[in-house]
Amino acid sequence: MKSLIPVGIAGLGHYVPERRLTNAELEKMVDTSDEWIVQRSGIRERRVAAEGELASEMGARAAQEALADAGVAPEDVDLVLCCTVTGDHLFPATACEIAHLIGAPHAGGWDIGAACSGFVVGAMTAAQFISTGAYRNVLVVGVEKLSAILDYTDRTTCVLFGDGAGAALFTDLDRAGRGEYLSGSSGMRGGNADVLSLPAGGTRFGTSFDTVEKRMHFVRMQGRQVYRFAVNTFAETAEKALAPYDRDELGLLVPHQVNLRIIESAAEQVGVPMDRIFVNIDRYGNTSAASVPLALYEARREGRMVDGKLVLCVAFGAGLTWGHVLFRW
Ligand SMILES: CC(C)(COP(=O)(O)OP(=O)(O)OC[C@H]1O[C@@H](n2cnc3c(N)ncnc32)[C@H](O)[C@@H]1OP(=O)(O)O)[C@@H](O)C(=O)NCCC(=O)NCCS
Repeated sequence: MKSLIPVGIAGLGHYVPERRLTNAELEKMVDTSDEWIVQRSGIRERRVAAEGELASEMGARAAQEALADAGVAPEDVDLVLCCTVTGDHLFPATACEIAHLIGAPHAGGWDIGAACSGFVVGAMTAAQFISTGAYRNVLVVGVEKLSAILDYTDRTTCVLFGDGAGAALFTDLDRAGRGEYLSGSSGMRGGNADVLSLPAGGTRFGTSFDTVEKRMHFVRMQGRQVYRFAVNTFAETAEKALAPYDRDELGLLVPHQVNLRIIESAAEQVGVPMDRIFVNIDRYGNTSAASVPLALYEARREGRMVDGKLVLCVAFGAGLTWGHVLFRW
């Protein structure tokens, strides 16, 4: 899409809880091993929110850092989009709480529930509102407190995920001065709730003794099906996004931090060398909607964004959903 008003990224922020949960600790909780986890996923440790620490609080910390980085006052934020599947409540939206915590009285907003694709969908949404002139400063926050919905007796899921937050402040390119938004996409294929979901707690299976007894308030996943979907979708989405450009224009690919094996397989299919792919899954695990903004934040901090080159973010997850956003740095 050619922007009516060009859009850019003015600021990035992050927050991760202090508590580290290592593979060695998980070995004491379930029948697993550091070797299995590292070999199958690349994860060495993940962060876990403190007792009582809220998703909105983690999101607000990341948002405050993004605003400070952008030099934008909270009063000037027009819209807060909170991408999460682990918000404080089913309603109200966690975006409302974040706007309250950062002191953004003029902001509207809502939550985006596209699971691990949440941040790219949020970023694309932000770009539409800015490019049409409807809003000027849009804060996109990806935050997850997945530890609250993980079954720490189920080794097939609990080793893979972690908590954290990332945020980006989008505004018109003139003011942002960097991170020009070039394109975005969002895809989905329903009928896959049995592949990856939180079965109960919605209106299909409301909370009951039965749902609690059957452990239906924890993440359930068909790992192998997700694996196949993720590799193929990652590769196809990246290829489509990069099709209009010369391959050596790509400075950095910042994928959803899903699993090192998935990232490596997809990178090979697309033909992007690993030194042009940002990976931090070893330290955080899969933080769902927080993973892309957290990775973007760290990639910039480590000087991995190359001026004038493309930065491609690709994500995919429950739904099934997928999408991309492409920037020129
Ligand atoms: C989950 C995943 C790592 C499992 O790897 P895999 O190679 O597919 O492993 P399998 O599911 O075939 O399981 C192989 C064996 O390891 C066992 N296993 C599963 N989790 C284990 C763990 N944490 N530790 C040790 N063994 C484990 C399985 O029970 C199985 O044992 P069995 O052969 O005796 O039945 C992999 O499928 C994956 O990464 N899927 C994508 C998940 C994901 O990223 N989801 C989020 C998407 S946004």
